[in-house]
Amino acid sequence: MCGIIGYCGEKSAAPIVLEGLKRLEYRGYDSAGIASLCDGRLLMKKDVGKIDEVNQKHNLGSLLGNTAIGHTRWATHGGVTQDNAHPHCDCKREIFVVHNGIIENHQPLRHRLERKYSFVSETDSEVIPHLIREFMDMGSSLEQAVCQAVKELRGSYAILAISASEPQKIVAARKDSPLVVGIGSGESFVASDVLSFLKHTNRVIFVEDGEIVSLNNDKVTIHDGEGRQIPREPQKVDWKWSGATKQGYEFFMRKEIMEQPWAMRCALMQDRGLIMEAAMDILRTRQVVLTGCGTSRHAALIGRYLFSKVGGKFSDVIMGSEFHHFSDSIHKDTLVIAVSQSGETADILEGVKKAKANGATILSIVNVVGSSLARLSDKVVYLNCGPEIGVAATKSFVSELVIFYLLAFAMINQLREGMRAIKSLSLLTRKNLNHNGAISPELAQGLKGKNDFYYIARGINFATAMEAALKAKEIAYVHAEGMPAGELKHGTLALIEQKTPVIAICPADYTFEETMSNVAEAKARGAFIIGVSDRNEESFDEWLKIPTVEEVFYPLVSIVPLQLLAYDLAVAKGLDPDKPRNLAKSVTVK
Ligand code: M6R
Repeated sequence: MCGIIGYCGEKSAAPIVLEGLKRLEYRGYDSAGIASLCDGRLLMKKDVGKIDEVNQKHNLGSLLGNTAIGHTRWATHGGVTQDNAHPHCDCKREIFVVHNGIIENHQPLRHRLERKYSFVSETDSEVIPHLIREFMDMGSSLEQAVCQAVKELRGSYAILAISASEPQKIVAARKDSPLVVGIGSGESFVASDVLSFLKHTNRVIFVEDGEIVSLNNDKVTIHDGEGRQIPREPQKVDWKWSGATKQGYEFFMRKEIMEQPWAMRCALMQDRGLIMEAAMDILRTRQVVLTGCGTSRHAALIGRYLFSKVGGKFSDVIMGSEFHHFSDSIHKDTLVIAVSQSGETADILEGVKKAKANGATILSIVNVVGSSLARLSDKVVYLNCGPEIGVAATKSFVSELVIFYLLAFAMINQLREGMRAIKSLSLLTRKNLNHNGAISPELAQGLKGKNDFYYIARGINFATAMEAALKAKEIAYVHAEGMPAGELKHGTLALIEQKTPVIAICPADYTFEETMSNVAEAKARGAFIIGVSDRNEESFDEWLKIPTVEEVFYPLVSIVPLQLLAYDLAVAKGLDPDKPRNLAKSVTVK
C-alpha cells in the first residue's frame, strides 16, 4: 500500500518529491523518507511518523540534487521503526530503493544475500538494493541490474532505484503494484499515482507489469524484461490538481461528503451507448457476478437489488477477497462486474485476472482513469467524481450507486428517465446535507462515549446499514455492526443493553413496517433508537430526517446523514477522519 514518487529534471528534486509524498499520504502514513542524488553522492533522510512530522524533524525538502525518490509507508513486514522506513540502500550506500508491494520470497533471498551483505531492517524490501548491488558488481548498469533483480522477485512490487554511479537517472519496475510516469518539459516523474505530480504535468504513461522504465530528465525509455524497447505515447489525464486540495475544508472527508450532489451529476456524464451495451450484457449473460471490497462491495450489494427489482435479473455479489476462491464456477458465460474506486485493490485484481483467464467478460466500475482494473477490463464505466483522498469512501459510494441506477434503468430501456430522476435527486441531496449537517455534530457529541453501535435495515436499504457501520468503525474507532433488521433476533439482540445506540434505516417504503417491528424489539430491550427516515415515529429517540423519494432511490439519500454522523463522531473524539489508524486508501496488498 505505501506510496512512492521519483523526480528527475533541472529543478531541486527533494521539495517536489516532498510535495508529491503529501499527495500520496492516503496510501500509508506511518513513516516516510527521501533519497536524493547530488554531484554523484547519495543523501537520505527518513523517520517514523506522518510526512509533516518527519519533515519537521528532518527538513526533507532541504536534500540537494536534481534527482530524488521518496516513500510514505504502510507497514507490512517489520514494525514501524526508522530502520524499516524507506528508502533502503545497499551496504556501500551507493544504491537507494523505494518499494511498494510485498516480496513473497524475501526470506530465501535474504538468507542467500546475508552471506555477502549485512541487512539493517526487518523489511522484505531491503533484499532489492542488495540484489541490485550484486548484479552491478558483476558489471551490469543500473537498468540491467534492476531488470535482473526483478526476475528473482516473487510477489508484488513497484520499485524506484537510483545509483551514485548513474547520476540523473531513476530506474523503475512494476508487477501488480501501480506505477505511472509523468512527462514534463525537461523533467519527468514516476509515482504510485497521477495525483502526486499532477500539478506539474498531466501527460502520463501507465507502466505495465514486467516493464522496466528509465527516466533521465524528460527522456523516458521503456523496455520489456528481455531488454526490447517498447514505444509508448503519453496520454492526457483530465483530473485537476485543485480536486486534490481541501479547498477550505478542515478535512478531505468533509469536503468529499459535501461534494456529493456534484459527484452525482458527474457520474451521469456517460456515453449512453456504453451504458446501454453494458445493460444488454447484463440481461443476456447467463451468470452475472458482482465483486468489490469494503464500500465498493456495499455499492455492489445495492446494485444487485436494483438489477433484480428494476431489471428483473438475478445476480450475485462475492466479496473481492474471496472472489478468486470461486474461480472454478466462473467461465465464458459469466459477466463479472468489478467495482473499485481506486481500480488498484489487490483482492479485486487477483479475482478478475483469474476470471478473465477462465474466459469471463469483465465490466468494471472505476474512478481512477488508467488504473490496473480499468486496463484489465473489457468495458469500463468511470465514476468521474475526481480524486477521493479521505480514506473513508464517501462520494465514490454515491457515484457507484448512480452507475448502478443507470445500468438498471437501461435494462428496462428507461435510461433517460433514470438520468432525469438522479439529476433532481442531486438537488435534494444538497438540502439533505444542509439539514443533517446542522444537527449531526450535537448528536455526535451525545454519542461520543458509546462503544457499540448497531445499524439495521431491510431489502434494498440493508447494504446502507453495512456501509454506515463501516464508516463509523473505520474513522470513529467504535464497534459497529450493520445487518439486515430481521437478523437482529437471531443473535445480536443479546448484545442490546440500556441506551445501546441502534440506528434504524427505515424510510417510508416497502421495508418500513417490518423494520419498525425490529425497532420495537430493540426498544423493548432498552436500545436508544436513531431513526433514519422521512417519517418520524414515537419510538425514535433521535430522528435523522431524509427526503421522500421513489422507493428504489432511498439508499442514495439515507447514507448521507450517516456519513455525516460518522465524521462528526470522529471529530468529536479528536480523531483525524482522513487518516484513520492502520488503514490506507488504496489496498494494493492481499
Ligand atoms: O478502491 P476500492 O473501492 O477498491 O477500495 C475498496 C475498499 O478498500 C474501500 O472501500 C475501503 O473499505 C474504504 N476505506 C471504506 O471507506
